[in-house]
Amino acid sequence: MSYFNASNTPFALNNGRAYQQWRRWKLNHAARHVDELIVPVHDPRNLSDTEVMALLSTIRHNNMVIYASRSCQDSDKSIPRKIAARFGLRNLNHNWLADDDGLTSLTVNDAGSHPFYIPYTNRPINWHTDGYYNPADAQVCGLMLHCVHRAAHGGENALLDHEIAYILLRDENPAYIEALMSQDAMTIPPGTDMHGNLRDAAVGPVFSVIAESGDLHMRYTMRQRNIIWKDDETVKEAIGFLEAILDSDLPCIHRATLEPGMGLISNNVLHDRSGFSDMVGLPQRLLYRARYFDRITRSGIESIDEEELEDETRSERSRHFSGYSSPIASTNSSP
Ligand SMILES: [Fe+2]
Repeated sequence: MSYFNASNTPFALNNGRAYQQWRRWKLNHAARHVDELIVPVHDPRNLSDTEVMALLSTIRHNNMVIYASRSCQDSDKSIPRKIAARFGLRNLNHNWLADDDGLTSLTVNDAGSHPFYIPYTNRPINWHTDGYYNPADAQVCGLMLHCVHRAAHGGENALLDHEIAYILLRDENPAYIEALMSQDAMTIPPGTDMHGNLRDAAVGPVFSVIAESGDLHMRYTMRQRNIIWKDDETVKEAIGFLEAILDSDLPCIHRATLEPGMGLISNNVLHDRSGFSDMVGLPQRLLYRARYFDRITRSGIESIDEEELEDETRSERSRHFSGYSSPIASTNSSP
């Protein structure tokens, strides 16, 4: 029987008991090494039920999984869509500059407006969640990447489960969470919407609780330009602390370079991308990206049943507690 739900969510600041129970479960299961996020699959076009279970288990614990297949190195766009459908990801966000089918081909593209947007260049992309500039009623909750060709050099992704970021911030100072949940914490000035038209400023929280499920959602970008943080000392301290986490070598930050046939299935976790270079004579780096308004089904707090939590308490598997308690010096005094 499900223990957490929208009315008993561990992400509400006034629900300390649920938070401590969920936190113990989370830290007992969270991956300590990127290898724990990688699940081999035979044919991503046609996942077996056993493979889906293995992938989902990793997603439940980490909000993400990296599938890896050696047998699949073609540019068939149906691959990410077929995988997504197995995990309940159906409602695509047709973002600006997406291909006609709603997927986005991330590759160096000199045509039209593409060079003005970093994802279509070989430059590094700072930490963010996807769609942070979307309006409140069109948030990106699911994110998929599928690699067709890797770059000759670079193109690594760093990944951080946003629920782990929440834990580190809340443990440091619950007021940080309160500040980042304020409805005007983060403003993205007007820009271009998914149809290429001017859109209004996007004002909203960094952390929010999804009303229907009680799950945690995060909007964030580390970019310095075209973002306005709330003029509030606690918001600024919280953002400074979060930046210190993202700049650190904490074991919860995982780094992976997707190879052909590999891909990421996630609940839009925090990520970045290093710069890369293609080589003449080799295929250009090409990843397909799909953004969904859905979260991955059966991956949220409602999937954690009471028995599972009791087992956690009994087993007291404490190995995961060390290392996640933040070794970061408080940034309260940092600029
Ligand atoms: Fe992204």
